[in-house]
Amino acid sequence: ISRSFSSSAVRSVVIKNVMIIGGGQMGAGIAQVAASTGHSVTLVDMSEDILKKSVKGIEGSLKRVVKKKFADKPEAGEEFVQKILQNVSISTDPAAAVPTSDLVLEAIVENLKVKQDLFSRLDKLAPAHSIFASNTSSLPITDIASSTSRQDRFGGLHFFNPVPMMKLVEVIATSATSQETFDSLLNFSKALGKTPVSCKDTPGFIVNRLLVPYMIEALRLHERGHGSKEDIDIAMKLGAGYPMGPFELSDYVGLDTMKFIIDGWSEKDPDNPLFTPSELLNKLVAEGKLGKKTGEGFYKYK
Ligand code: 3HC
Repeated sequence: ISRSFSSSAVRSVVIKNVMIIGGGQMGAGIAQVAASTGHSVTLVDMSEDILKKSVKGIEGSLKRVVKKKFADKPEAGEEFVQKILQNVSISTDPAAAVPTSDLVLEAIVENLKVKQDLFSRLDKLAPAHSIFASNTSSLPITDIASSTSRQDRFGGLHFFNPVPMMKLVEVIATSATSQETFDSLLNFSKALGKTPVSCKDTPGFIVNRLLVPYMIEALRLHERGHGSKEDIDIAMKLGAGYPMGPFELSDYVGLDTMKFIIDGWSEKDPDNPLFTPSELLNKLVAEGKLGKKTGEGFYKYK
């Protein structure tokens, strides 16, 4: 009897109410997908202005999604968009929404202290069952989780840009993440219509650990004078079947993000040649040319 009691007490949590902190590209994208799959979403950021922009972005992206689906029924398409948007509320106060959240997912600035402070504050207000997760692409989940008293209910959920299109979610378990929490995160990823893979809490998890060194090596190849940006991009698209070349993808991901990732790795493991920083990348970031989002990176955008 006690066995069935204890197993029901630690049953994996079915995630319905989701609080997403951070209304940037990733946070808004995750909010969109969660709302589209019937979850109740509270999107949190620091100001109403940012949040209004996030919702505009979600609306724009949903319209791209429905354009084909409802090609000859624009009213039905509009109704579809509005229905999904009804699942998204916005707030500037994470403390207000946390008592009803099954999952708190963070997609804010890549700063360990800021993430730790946020989770530590919410830890005291969240219900016991609620799971905390980070979408970090470069910080150890273990370090972020250490600021809370729920390390068994803490994991990583790493999404890819553009979130509505990319089918993968990396689910990261630390050595303290419980099996129930891991299962909940896995099931949540499936409920979003994504394909989850299981990752250890190692730098870059799977995708970035392979993708970022490849992208930086493309920059170095160009710096060595061995190929133009355009030719390298064409080569990888037509010769390797990648949807974007490494320079296009760097601009798309953001050169600041790329720099942040490679600098963090090279600091930890300076002798690894894969992690050698790129002069060209550093120069563009110093000039504020961060890629598509600032209108210029390796290429110029209108
Ligand atoms: N929202 C909704 N729909 C979108 C969208 C968005 N944000 N972006 C693109 N789409 C849709 C378009 O509407 C279009 O739909 P359709 O085929 O039904 O008309 C479809 O996607 C294709 O778009 P485009 O024709 O504009 O362009 P592409 O065919 O090149 O596809 C892409 C765009 C899906 C972004 C593709 O280029 C791609 O897969 N690029 C690689 C992206 C990638 O590698 N991402 C991972 C980056 S790493 C990362 O995020 C990790 C982080 O930690 C750094």
